[in-house]
Amino acid sequence: MTRLALPNNTDAGRASVSLSPSEFSEFRTFLKDAAGIDLGDNKQYLVTTRIRKILVEHKLNALSDLTRKIRQPGERHLRQQVIDAMTTNETFWFRDIYPFDYLKSTIFPELKQKSTFGTARVWCAACSSGQEPYSISIAADEFVRGALGVNAFSLEIQATDLSSSILEHAKSGRYDKLSISRGMSDQRLRNYFNSVDDNLWEVKPEVRQRVKFRALNLQDSFAIMGKFDVVFCRNVLIYFSSELKEDILRRIHATLKPGGYLFLGSSESLGAAGELFEMVHCNPGVVYRAQ
Ligand SMILES: C[S@@+](CC[C@H](N)C(=O)[O-])C[C@H]1O[C@@H](n2cnc3c(N)ncnc32)[C@H](O)[C@@H]1O
Repeated sequence: MTRLALPNNTDAGRASVSLSPSEFSEFRTFLKDAAGIDLGDNKQYLVTTRIRKILVEHKLNALSDLTRKIRQPGERHLRQQVIDAMTTNETFWFRDIYPFDYLKSTIFPELKQKSTFGTARVWCAACSSGQEPYSISIAADEFVRGALGVNAFSLEIQATDLSSSILEHAKSGRYDKLSISRGMSDQRLRNYFNSVDDNLWEVKPEVRQRVKFRALNLQDSFAIMGKFDVVFCRNVLIYFSSELKEDILRRIHATLKPGGYLFLGSSESLGAAGELFEMVHCNPGVVYRAQ
């Protein structure tokens, strides 16, 4: 049994609340139903560290009280707060580098040829705080500036995530020094950001205007999303069961135009959905093309 240390609600002291196996299991089921996130058997510590603040804020003494409360129909806000606390939002600029290089060297030129009269479409399916879709938009700008005779390449980036609080951050387009230090070069910082103050930068409007953010749970229907030339679904499928992962990949395949591209995280693979895609090497990584 894990002990969950909480400040006592009635005085300034600290009380200790137990996290029993059944409470943990009940919470695990909630999170799997709500977000698809499959907590491992030994993730009690993760729950205790991430949920403690919410218990204190709502004056709840035990995880079981919280799990009961978030299952009630009127508790949408609290439910979202718990999901936000349990999602891992780790991300950074130009993560893994090669997807953005490959966009510029191969995919954008190909889409430019095809879409003389249309707009190419990219879906960033678990966009977190926005570094990934803005990196795609910066790559598009660099492509347009670097390619002779390319003056009318139109790109729309749909960026979605389950977590409402992280989407608010993404939409603001504002990043502090620490976030900027993770993958953003000085040159790109100068070209694509306005300085707000000593510790804050804002993505320039010309980069932001290509990106549209909306909430989407990957467990739900993708019917509203339309068709895409490229999908980024990186570093999120690892949190799901193999059945859910296969279901999501099959539905992503259905959103891709023929020959459309799918980028996964560098440690992720297609698993049982492999027959739907052709693997293309783009050193040092791979990209998948819809068959
Ligand atoms: C580790 S971040 C990955 C961000 C970015 N794709 C990257 O690779 O840098 C995972 C994101 O997936 C989101 N997420 C988790 N479960 C989700 C679900 N069921 N539907 C949509 N997004 C989800 C989280 O909110 C989080 O922002």
